[in-house]
Amino acid sequence: MNKVIITGVAGFIGSNLAERLLQHGSFEVMGIDNLSYGVKEQIPYGVVFHHLDIRDEAIHPIFSGADYVFHLAAKNCINDCQIDPVDTVDINISGTVNVFEAAKRANIKKVIYAESSSLYEGSNILPTPESELYPQSFYALSKFACMYFAEAYSRFFNLNCTALRYFCVYGPRQDYRRTIPPVFSAFIIKLLKGEQPVIYGNGEKRRDFIHIDDVNDFHIKCIDDDKTNSKTFNLGSGLNYSINEIYQIIADLLGSKITPIYQPDLPGEAAANLADITEARKIGWLPKIDLITGLKTSIDFIENELLAGRIP
Ligand SMILES: NC(=O)c1ccc[n+]([C@@H]2O[C@H](COP(=O)([O-])OP(=O)(O)OC[C@H]3O[C@@H](n4cnc5c(N)ncnc54)[C@H](O)[C@@H]3O)[C@@H](O)[C@H]2O)c1
Repeated sequence: MNKVIITGVAGFIGSNLAERLLQHGSFEVMGIDNLSYGVKEQIPYGVVFHHLDIRDEAIHPIFSGADYVFHLAAKNCINDCQIDPVDTVDINISGTVNVFEAAKRANIKKVIYAESSSLYEGSNILPTPESELYPQSFYALSKFACMYFAEAYSRFFNLNCTALRYFCVYGPRQDYRRTIPPVFSAFIIKLLKGEQPVIYGNGEKRRDFIHIDDVNDFHIKCIDDDKTNSKTFNLGSGLNYSINEIYQIIADLLGSKITPIYQPDLPGEAAANLADITEARKIGWLPKIDLITGLKTSIDFIENELLAGRIP
């Protein structure tokens, strides 16, 4: 059995990844989370959970004897990061360096860590390849710094790091607790409650959405395939939709005629993103889940788990 540590295990991507690894049957999963955003109830049964902050030295002993680390914990709401850059730097940079340090001391085989498509937010090149770095927001800058720390840990200590630049990941357990949740959760929750969802700006921003199951396929490849070693990958679908289009698709799926409320745009958000997924395709990965099929999994979760009161 390979031992895998997931930081941010109570969050959206971390809890789904933990579930996939446990279903796989050949992994022991240990999880770390300070429960600042995530909730304990969504950590899958079978995960050995440590309620700790990634900035705490107390995480180091957990790494001893582990094989792989998925580092996902972060302050990741762009708006919250704009409001508090100091906290953003502390969690996202100091926390990440503490994770890299723990991994180095424990001779971890590979650290797979979350960067973000926000690293391209100032770029006009669409679809965007991994080389096109143009971070602007405090959140993106914190991820940018992590990229350089990963390179330095690799250069000086041979730490094997793989960086994943997620685009807009969606699916069951997508974070719905933020002040401003991602559009899928925000729209579905409001429409199911019969309330008017909010669209910030004119709704013409375009986003590349990728389903969590496709992302998890790539996570498994990161463990299985050495061609992912010391590389960076965009994880998106290679298609993008405007927020207005997404709204209409969700409203149609739910049979709702409710119209959205338009409010002033949020700071720090790019006009469009679209992944160039050439690098990920080269190692045999292709997104399989189309938007409608994927959206139905989000709707099912929100209707039957969240709004049914099974998850706080
Ligand atoms: N979801 C996306 O579409 C997306 C896109 C780009 C990048 N990312 C990155 O992927 C990673 C996972 O994102 P997610 O959507 O699962 O987010 P999430 O907010 O659902 O999960 C993050 C988890 O980290 C935990 N956490 C935060 N600060 C912590 C700390 N100091 N110590 C310990 N735990 C802490 C939170 O409690 C939460 O459970 C993040 O690094 C994020 O920046 C996500």
